[in-house]
Amino acid sequence: MAVQAASSPHVTAPGVRARKGSDEPLVMITAYDAPSARVVDESGADMILVGDTLAMVVLGYDDTLQVTTDDMAHHIAAVARTKPRALVVGDLPWMSYHVSTAETVRNAAALVRAGASAVKLEGGRKRVPMVEAILDAEIPVMGHVGLTPQSVHALGGFRVQGKELDAARVIVDDAIALAETGCFAIVLECVPDAVARLVTESVDVPIIGIGAGRHCDGQVLVYHDLLGLSGRRVPKFVRQYAAMEDDATEALRRFVADVRDGSFPAATETYHASDSVTDAVAVMGRSESAPA
Ligand code: KIV
Repeated sequence: MAVQAASSPHVTAPGVRARKGSDEPLVMITAYDAPSARVVDESGADMILVGDTLAMVVLGYDDTLQVTTDDMAHHIAAVARTKPRALVVGDLPWMSYHVSTAETVRNAAALVRAGASAVKLEGGRKRVPMVEAILDAEIPVMGHVGLTPQSVHALGGFRVQGKELDAARVIVDDAIALAETGCFAIVLECVPDAVARLVTESVDVPIIGIGAGRHCDGQVLVYHDLLGLSGRRVPKFVRQYAAMEDDATEALRRFVADVRDGSFPAATETYHASDSVTDAVAVMGRSESAPA
């Protein structure tokens, strides 16, 4: 068996777990295809999340409930083919881990076979049996508590969670249960910063925040939101670093104009035959179009 060098450049789930308490926050960014995976990996992020947000930011659905395990595997495979240094985490979609532990493990395995090195699922204590079953199949699991978008209908919308004391307590207890079960990290979405701080201090695995303030062990954001590509008004917790949809539209407008005014393609953008062949082709064209 080949033994990986201790200085392996690839980020692993145990490596992420070991970063709890480190001074350097973890960074996770979503990606859904090869170009976005290359950009995320080049940025130096620690983890690439092939999130079920692809339903909304890539496939145009209104929520994340429409994607299947096959959809996720398709996108995970595209990301994994770029062989990133970052850890590839595959999101288990809605209904892929709700029916039985056997089905859950099969679906988690499908994401690993597609190229994920870990899977993520949403929910707290009630997911513990599923997390245990996946871990038993030797697949690292990332938890996800707070706002869990797959519960959008049960929650009554995409809303900040844990604003009341009782609700905050539930989130803390859920995170503790997931950490104790063996999740190597937990996403904490859309909670007040004081609650995020308590969750982060209450568990011994990294808490990766999104809309959870600065006291977490790391941060995750959606690629299309960061780059101004999502075509929607981004939530207040997003910092947008580019306006790529505007830039792309402007670039394509210039192409359309260049084609219409005849400036594209130029001679340098065109294949040319030798002068003799060009002349012979022109003569051939003239004789073929001459009246009989
Ligand atoms: O699916 C996703 O992109 C996510 C992040 C928002 C954390 O779960």
